[in-house]
Amino acid sequence: MKHIFKKGTKADGTTLLLLHGTGGTETDLLPIAEMIDPEANVLSVRGNVLENGMPRFFRRLEEGVFDEEDLLLRTDELNDFLIEASEKYGFDRNLIVAIGYSNGANIAASLLFHHRYALKGAILLHPMVPRRGVELPDLTGTAVFISAGTNDPICPKSEARELRDLLDGAHASVQLQWEDYGHQLTQSEIMLAGQWYKTHF
Ligand code: MLT
Repeated sequence: MKHIFKKGTKADGTTLLLLHGTGGTETDLLPIAEMIDPEANVLSVRGNVLENGMPRFFRRLEEGVFDEEDLLLRTDELNDFLIEASEKYGFDRNLIVAIGYSNGANIAASLLFHHRYALKGAILLHPMVPRRGVELPDLTGTAVFISAGTNDPICPKSEARELRDLLDGAHASVQLQWEDYGHQLTQSEIMLAGQWYKTHF
C-alpha cells in the first residue's frame, strides 16, 4: 500500500497509524500525529480504492452504505500490510494506535471488529459502524477515543453511539466526545484526543 513511514525518537515506542478520509491522502493527518505524539513512529497509509478519483479504504455502494465484501477484503489487506511494515521498519506490531478520520476511522473500526490484536488503541474521528450483526473479539485492554459532531450529516449521532456501545460490549475502554459541529475536524477535538492519548499511552 502507498504510505509514508517516519521513525520516531522512541524507536521501540508507539506507532501512529494514520488513515485519511475520502478523497484524502497519506499526508493529510501528519500535522495531527505531530500534535498527538511528536515522538511516535508514524505510518500513514493511502487507501487502495478509488471512487471517482478519490482515494478510500474500501468501496461503498452509496453514501453511508458499505460494500461489505470489499470492506472485509480491505480490512485483511490493511492488517497484512501492518505486519509487513512492522517487519520492514522494525516497529512493535503490538503497539499501533490508529488515528482515522471518517472513511479512515471506519476501516480502523473494522480492524478492531475483525482482528483482535491489530490495534492497541484508536482515535476514531467521525466514525460510523463498519458492520452489523457480527460478534466482536474480546477487546479488553484496547483503548478507543471517538469524537463525533452533533450536526454531522455524514456520520449521524446514532452511529457514534452504536459504535461506542458495540466496543463497550466487547470490553474496550471507550470515551465518546461530542463537538457541536458537523463533519469537519475541530481544533478542540484534536486537543481532547491528545489529552486522552497521554493518559493511555
Ligand atoms: C464512508 O464511506 O466511510 C463514510 O460515509 C464516510 C465518508 O464519507 O468517507
